Parts: sequence; structure tokens; C-alpha cells
Amino acid sequence: MTPTSSLPPGYTPPTNLLEGRAVLVTGAGQGLGQAVALACAAHGATVALLGRKPKKLEATADAIEAAGGAEPVLVPFDLAEAGTAQFEQLAHLLRRELKRLDGIAHCASHFVPLTPLAHQGLESWLVLLRVNLAAPAALTRACLPLLAAAPDASVVFTGETHGLDPAAFWGAFAIGKSALPALAKVWADELEKSGTPRMNVLVPGPMNTPQRAMSHPGEDRSRLRSAESVAVSYLYLLGPDSRGRSGETLRM
Ligand SMILES: NC(=O)c1ccc[n+]([C@@H]2O[C@H](COP(=O)([O-])OP(=O)(O)OC[C@H]3O[C@@H](n4cnc5c(N)ncnc54)[C@H](OP(=O)(O)O)[C@@H]3O)[C@@H](O)[C@H]2O)c1
Repeated sequence: MTPTSSLPPGYTPPTNLLEGRAVLVTGAGQGLGQAVALACAAHGATVALLGRKPKKLEATADAIEAAGGAEPVLVPFDLAEAGTAQFEQLAHLLRRELKRLDGIAHCASHFVPLTPLAHQGLESWLVLLRVNLAAPAALTRACLPLLAAAPDASVVFTGETHGLDPAAFWGAFAIGKSALPALAKVWADELEKSGTPRMNVLVPGPMNTPQRAMSHPGEDRSRLRSAESVAVSYLYLLGPDSRGRSGETLRM
């Protein structure tokens, strides 16, 4: 099993933690991504919100501005369809709109109902591996020059319990997620000399979000951790309090 490390218990970020920083959040229209975007903005960051559905991104942007946060940049974008050229264009847009990039929180994910591997065809594999593994890598790669120019940049990939401990019926979703610790480790090793951007994986565990309703239908979700409480750990990894930590897989 992938070795994991822990987060500092009871971490409480100062309200100006991300003051002056710019952060891209994927999957920002709902669930964890929305909570992370709101938390980053509430702690001083200007955020770029990426997802497929503009209306959901607008709702997140409205909530950020209503809470007094800086006006976000909306990035309607399909991670399943994009190639290298589209990721490069996205990085150009971020440079133009934000002028800098201090972090990426990769929260978007593609999930399909649990099924035996024997029922999972190549097309399903490719979308799962693309959105959950290859697209976060390609997006990070396109943004590397921007991230490297920031003094303390940090990238957070979102792992999954069944990526650390694969089990029946979790299929190519678990298999794609299982490769994220390797991705972060390889990249962290390559960037060891400069130390930036830092590359880590966060494994949040069960949360009360729309994806959980798909993976565990019928469950009493009111007892689960909220996405808002998990977002605090993203603040820790994106901000200066986690300086020096890279290549780790952190489990909540
Ligand atoms: N929920 C849990 O219990 C749990 C547990 C462990 C790990 N996680 C991980 O935590 C992360 C967030 O999960 P969640 O529960 O918040 O998921 P969610 O509610 O299903 O949200 C997924 C997000 O990804 C976006 N997305 C999906 N396909 C996309 C695509 N092709 N291009 C761009 N954006 C796309 C969706 O936005 P659009 O619909 O607008 O595209 C949505 O905002 C995921 O990585 C998940 O694997 C979740």
C-alpha cells in the first residue's frame, strides 16, 4: 500500500493565509471543489474556477463575491476533451487574467457507478484515466512556468481511499487514483532542487458531496464529514504553513 503521512491536527489557518496569491480550483462548481474555492477566496486568494458547467461556476463565483472575496475568473473547460494545445491555451488565459499562479487544487473527478472490471470497456477506462489522472498531470504541466515563477507554489492532487487500498468493483476509477501518489512523487523528485512548485496528494476520505451519493446510494450522509471541513486541509497544503512538504500522500 502507498505510504501516507498525516496533516497537523487541529490546523487553523489565519484569515490572510493566501493573501496576494492566485489559485486554480478544478471541479469548482460543486462538492469539494466548490468548498475549496470558497475557502481559498475567504483566506485572501483570487481564484480561477474550472468545471464543465458555466452555471455551476457562476453560482460559486456569486457565493465568493457575496462573502466579500475577490472576483473569480471563470474557466468553463472539459478535462475529458482537452489536448495539450487546449491546456496551453488555458495556461495563457490564467497568465492574462491572474498575472500569476501560486497553486492548483485538483478537485474535479469523473466517477461511474461501481461495476466489475469485466464490464468496464476501453472507452470507460479512457475517460476515467483521462479526467482523474492524465488531465491533472497535463494541466499542471501547462501551468509549470507560471507556478515556477511564484515564490511558494503548491499543487494538490485529490486522491481516494480506494486508490490507496483498491477493492472489487472500484475499477479504473481506483486504478487511476492509485497512480496519483506516483505522479506527485516523480514530480517532487524532479523539482527537488528548486523546491517549487510543491506536489502532494490529499486523500480526504468520505465526504457529504454529490459523488458520495453516487458511490454509496442510500447511505445516511448527514453523518459524513462536510466538504467545508475538508477544505481546511487544502488551505494547509496550498499555503506557507506546509512549506518543505512535497511528494507526500496525506491521508485525513
Ligand atoms: N465524496 C467523497 O466521499 C470522496 C471521497 C474521497 C475522495 N473524493 C475525491 O474528492 C474529489 C471531489 O469529489 P466530490 O465528491 O466533490 O465530487 P463531485 O461532487 O462529483 O464533483 C466533481 C466535480 O468535477 C467536475 N468534473 C467532472 N468531470 C469533469 C470534466 N470532464 N471536466 C471538468 N470538470 C469535471 C464536476 O463539475 P461539472 O459537472 O461542472 O463538470 C464537479 O464539479 C474527487 O477527486 C473525488 O474523487 C471524494
